[in-house]
Amino acid sequence: MVAGEEVTIFVDGRRVTARAGEPVAAALYAAGIRTTRFSRRRGEARGPFCMVGRCTECVMTVDGVENVRTCTTPVRDGMRVETPGGRRHGPSGA
Ligand code: FES
Repeated sequence: MVAGEEVTIFVDGRRVTARAGEPVAAALYAAGIRTTRFSRRRGEARGPFCMVGRCTECVMTVDGVENVRTCTTPVRDGMRVETPGGRRHGPSGA
C-alpha cells in the first residue's frame, strides 16, 4: 500500500473510499460523516474537534479496538470503523 493510494474502509458497515495514510477522521469528514460518537449522558452526536489527539471527541472502535482517536490514526485498506455503543449513522452521516 502506497501513501495516498485510494483504499476502502468500512464505517458501521458502509463502504467509504479514503486515501491510505490520511487520518481516519479526515476520511470520514470527506465522506460526509460528522458524528464519531454519542455523549453518554444525553446521547448527543459528537464529532472531531481538535484534530490533534487532545480532546477525545473523535474516539471510535477501529478494527475491534475501542477508544481509538481517529484524528491521529492513519487509514489502512480494509479498516473497520464503528461508532461506539452500537449506534449507526443514517444515510446522511449525521
Ligand atoms: S479530534 Fe480531538 S482527539 Fe481527535
